[in-house]
Amino acid sequence: MNNDLEIFRDEVLLALAEVTDIRAWDAIRVNTLGKSGKLTALLRSLGGMSPEIRKERGQALNRLRDELAHCFEERKRVLEKAAIEARLQAERVDVSLPPPPCLGGERQGFLHPISRTIEEIRSIFGTMGFSVEEGPDIETDWYNFSALNTPDHHPARTDHDTFYLSPRQPTESEQQEIPQKIHLLRTQTSGVQIRTLLAKKPPLRIIAPGRVYRADHDATHSPMFHQCEGLVIEQGITLSHLKGCLTDFLRAFFDRPRLPVRFRASYFPFTEPSLEVDIGWSRQTGEIGNGADWLEVLGAGMVHVRVLANCGIDPREWQGFAFGMGLERLTMLKNGISDVRSFFENDIRWLRYYGTNPFEAVL
Ligand code: PHE
Repeated sequence: MNNDLEIFRDEVLLALAEVTDIRAWDAIRVNTLGKSGKLTALLRSLGGMSPEIRKERGQALNRLRDELAHCFEERKRVLEKAAIEARLQAERVDVSLPPPPCLGGERQGFLHPISRTIEEIRSIFGTMGFSVEEGPDIETDWYNFSALNTPDHHPARTDHDTFYLSPRQPTESEQQEIPQKIHLLRTQTSGVQIRTLLAKKPPLRIIAPGRVYRADHDATHSPMFHQCEGLVIEQGITLSHLKGCLTDFLRAFFDRPRLPVRFRASYFPFTEPSLEVDIGWSRQTGEIGNGADWLEVLGAGMVHVRVLANCGIDPREWQGFAFGMGLERLTMLKNGISDVRSFFENDIRWLRYYGTNPFEAVL
């Protein structure tokens, strides 16, 4: 390369190495490779040279242009990366810092007692190897009833208990097809059993907390409330596992290692045998674990073979148990709350009293 070109190249590269931001980089680029840049002027000057010199110098200039263009791109990439790094550093948030004072005291938010109960339940069952599943609030009657072996004439299906959604007007082409699905607001979380069994292969242990709906409204019933479903499907699961698991759970939840737990025969369409689970308490004082009375807190049972078969699972190979509990009921018992309607009135004084600081560790 000619001496003057080498000097020019070194100057450009030096300037490029010293540049620290993209604006300055662009100024040098325009000055060098732009329309009235230095390299462009050198290329233009070829016109007045003799053919031999023009050829040789032309080739050298083209090579130099390619080399410089490459160096400019490289430098640009480095500068852009550095700019992002600098921004990340400058905008860093220290998540371990305590909340600023404006979040403390009067203006602090709280976890709703139902959220707190769900956290506790997740934590207790988490230690027993359960994972958490979810299902939609709007269900079809197949998931909510039929697949759960609930006969067509079962009272739970009637309008009295269940909120049915009015069907969408079918289009003309749909009218000839199969009848439309019936949609409803789920009356229980048990449909998640079906969704899980269809989507996953056993062995499995899941819980499914969520909202459910029934047409009922008084001091102990709310039209929207919460349940938590549980399902275990493994080989060789028996009623003893059910009893052990639920006894452990209730004792941990109420923090009473000796809490009396009683299992009573009952009926659910999707379990056989079915049980209701009571805990010992005193009706007079409301004290849990102490007293001569029993209070029902859970429904449970061994998963009905027809439910397993509906989901394509061979009942000779897999067995399991399921349970369901009302979360308002458990929360009321634990906190001495007497009216279920107060949960959803959004009275700030109530929320402040029964709410929990979200920064407090659960359990
Ligand atoms: N889904 C039942 C209810 O709402 C509770 C239940 C769940 C019972 C699972 C047995 C097994 O009452």
